[in-house]
Amino acid sequence: MKITVVGAGNVGATAALRIAEKQLAKEVVLIDVVEGIPQGKALDMYESGSIGLFDTCIFGSNDYKDTANSDIILITAGLARKPGMTREDLLMKNGTIIRDVTKELMKYSSNPIIVMVSNPVDIMTYVAWKVSGLPKEQVIGMGGVLDTARYKTFIAEALNVSMQDISALVLGGHGDAMVPVVNYTNVSGIPLTELLPQDKIDELVTRTRNGGIEIVNYLKTGSAFYAPAASAVEMIEAIVKDRKRILPCTTLLDNQYGIDDVFCGVPVKLGKNGIEQVLEINLSATELEALQHSAAIVDENCKQLTSLLA
Ligand code: LAC
Repeated sequence: MKITVVGAGNVGATAALRIAEKQLAKEVVLIDVVEGIPQGKALDMYESGSIGLFDTCIFGSNDYKDTANSDIILITAGLARKPGMTREDLLMKNGTIIRDVTKELMKYSSNPIIVMVSNPVDIMTYVAWKVSGLPKEQVIGMGGVLDTARYKTFIAEALNVSMQDISALVLGGHGDAMVPVVNYTNVSGIPLTELLPQDKIDELVTRTRNGGIEIVNYLKTGSAFYAPAASAVEMIEAIVKDRKRILPCTTLLDNQYGIDDVFCGVPVKLGKNGIEQVLEINLSATELEALQHSAAIVDENCKQLTSLLA
């Protein structure tokens, strides 16, 4: 197993180390345009192997040739948000970067699975899918896993229970219109609605929707990276180990949920082939409407990239 991580910034570097520590690959290639950064960070991580006890070779490079024959590619390249910015403000700049990165990657790997992290993630997943020519099952966006992780954290904190016992789902685009699905949220099988009053649940839902900007406002110069990297690696682990996990991921919908030809976060089954199934679950009329609204925003943004992708 060879895994390439594009972008040696905070998300990329954190993910690369996590992949090695979990021994998910024999070889991890960390690639970035900035000279020396991927080489230095990768060597530093590699040298921690004898302490952390992993044998994964981590190698840094500025040359896409070194990504040849990757099985999985995690794309984290591009700009992150600053305070006052929405993820959509990054559209044009990151769209250009992801287009060019994907073109380079596809010169050297014929059939990889791409996991997209760069924002706005649903739209960048579309760009990578369009440019790579890969089947839609092999180009997957990371949004829902992160949003769900945040939602679960806030629930566990409010109830003072273990995070492990929370089962939850956040659907839709990874933006302000994301849809935490309260009806599918439970604690060891007990519906959340039996454990917390509605106004408290509403508070947790709002905090989840604003989870990304809450961190940006603290950091000022960048956005979250520990939880995003952990989320991407959870998806990669499901693929590497063919675990058939059910996780909310961004995929190209084909008339599911009344949404056609738009990338949007829904529950999928992740295994060695990438997305092996899209699950269509029953949603309330309000939730379905919210999901379709979120997808419509993604669709509008994708249309703005038409000239970029021509
Ligand atoms: C966030 C960014 C990474 O939600 O989208 O923190």
